[in-house]
Amino acid sequence: MSPRSAAQAPVTVVGLGLMGHALAEAFLKNGHPTTVWNRSADKADDLVARGATLSGSVKSAVEASPLVVVCVSDYDAVHQLLDPVGGSLAGRTLVNLTTASSTQARETAAWAAENDSAYLDGAILGLPQAIGTAEATLLYSGSKAAFEEHQATLQALGETGTVYLDEDHGLSALYDMSVLSIMWGVLNGFLQGAALLGTANVKATTFAALANTAIKVTTDYVSAYAQQIDEGGYPATDATVAVHMGGMEHLIQETEALGVNSELPNLFLALAERAAADGHADDGYAALIEQFRKPSV
Ligand SMILES: NC(=O)c1ccc[n+]([C@@H]2O[C@H](COP(=O)([O-])OP(=O)(O)OC[C@H]3O[C@@H](n4cnc5c(N)ncnc54)[C@H](OP(=O)(O)O)[C@@H]3O)[C@@H](O)[C@H]2O)c1
Repeated sequence: MSPRSAAQAPVTVVGLGLMGHALAEAFLKNGHPTTVWNRSADKADDLVARGATLSGSVKSAVEASPLVVVCVSDYDAVHQLLDPVGGSLAGRTLVNLTTASSTQARETAAWAAENDSAYLDGAILGLPQAIGTAEATLLYSGSKAAFEEHQATLQALGETGTVYLDEDHGLSALYDMSVLSIMWGVLNGFLQGAALLGTANVKATTFAALANTAIKVTTDYVSAYAQQIDEGGYPATDATVAVHMGGMEHLIQETEALGVNSELPNLFLALAERAAADGHADDGYAALIEQFRKPSV
């Protein structure tokens, strides 16, 4: 598809919450004839003022475009909205940007196939404000042919951050969960540190610069540890698990002495102790992957 015809490709957006609204806005900005539908129709008002077409029903919204993007709270809502109009999806591509588990994504792909619809399951890594900018990363998995057909249109949502992963529809959801795990890990670490320093009246804003440096330094470990994980060996090139455990014990003593929450440091130590018990005390930190691979005790 040439850039000119891509800009003219019609698209439908079902769901105009914070994220769906941002998606529709980005399509409009890129010149796509954009049809929208939302349960609460008033959320379409400003989009209609900027040229969007508001459909009176999900069915007519789906039938307005070869590419249908849905972004609502969860997959129960997706199915409530789309199951009754499954027949209208035949011959179209459904792109589901609602957050889900990989199982839900694969089940929805099977449902779409029964309705003769091409299906891409997607994950949005970023806030609504990032949509349409270089800050947005959107991951897609499922039909490669459908992705290639609509790639130029989907790039309106994040031109450099539009990533196709694999034919396995569940993979974008799995990546999404993996990235969320990193986000909460980092944020909880920062909040723990801010709580500790708060006991000495150090403001979180004062801590922020050093916190960002610490986060950056930590990210430098990721590539080397990833290689060790893939190779299945964890030579201690920086510090051993035993040395980490000593630091964790200090952190627990400090949190307990200062009367701040010590659940997170205790979790760190429990995982490291299990790694040591499995014979990894003298290995590097990446050896803890084996604890993360097991179900919780
Ligand atoms: N916001 C973010 O930063 C962000 C980032 C990445 C991914 N996401 C994902 O994007 C999806 C939407 O998030 P959001 O921030 O846009 O949420 P939101 O602002 O709460 O909007 C939820 C949307 O779902 C609709 N909805 C919910 N239940 C419905 C039902 N039973 N029938 C019909 N419509 C229903 C709402 O319709 P009404 O307007 O009528 O209530 C609204 O359009 C979620 O899966 C979220 O995890 C969000």
